Amino acid sequence: MHQDADELEELISPDRIRARVRELGDEISRDYEGRPLVVVGILKGAFIFMADLVRHIRGPLVVDFVRLASYGSGTRSTGEVHITKDIEVDVEDRDVLVVEDIVDTGTTLRYLEEVLKLHKPRSVRICCLIDKKERRETDVSVHYVGFDVPRGFLVGYGLDFDEHYRHLPGIYRLRPGYHPEGFRPSEK
Ligand code: PRP
Ligand code: MN
Ligand code: MG
Repeated sequence: MHQDADELEELISPDRIRARVRELGDEISRDYEGRPLVVVGILKGAFIFMADLVRHIRGPLVVDFVRLASYGSGTRSTGEVHITKDIEVDVEDRDVLVVEDIVDTGTTLRYLEEVLKLHKPRSVRICCLIDKKERRETDVSVHYVGFDVPRGFLVGYGLDFDEHYRHLPGIYRLRPGYHPEGFRPSEK
């Protein structure tokens, strides 16, 4: 099992994630009081969190996804965000909840906020599982935060390193310098 591998240190267990995701779903359900919601997940990282979270939101909602990426295969953001899939649902005059796995420098979300504005939503709130506030380079306001984690390169529950580890059930810190295929790509 990956989670027993010595390159990984468990930070947040699957049970803790489960409990917290349920709380977030309850809070969101209360805040929107049954108002229809468009929940937009950011691929790929948010796919597992999104799937779990929407099952705890009561009230009418539709789901959609955008695909944004900035990390490539390194452990640091390239600072350049690419959108390869835009939203498909009409969000004009609707309440949008953006679901993200992790907010790090804030570059990805800042970019998405600009993209969403063009679609004229009534409101936009952001829900992330993990907030790394200390690494923030751009100001983004995140309304719902699962866990604050100060440092370390994190993988699991959707988060990857060079596309690996997304399927792991918890959140783990990856040992610096380790690569699952035995080599380390040069950092961009
Ligand atoms: C990761 C993560 C967030 C973003 C956070 O995505 O899933 O979307 O980086 O970093 P930032 O706040 O510095 O922008 P990545 O670009 O690795 O794409 P992925 O979701 O497909 O893994
Ligand atoms: Mn992502
Ligand atoms: Mg990634």
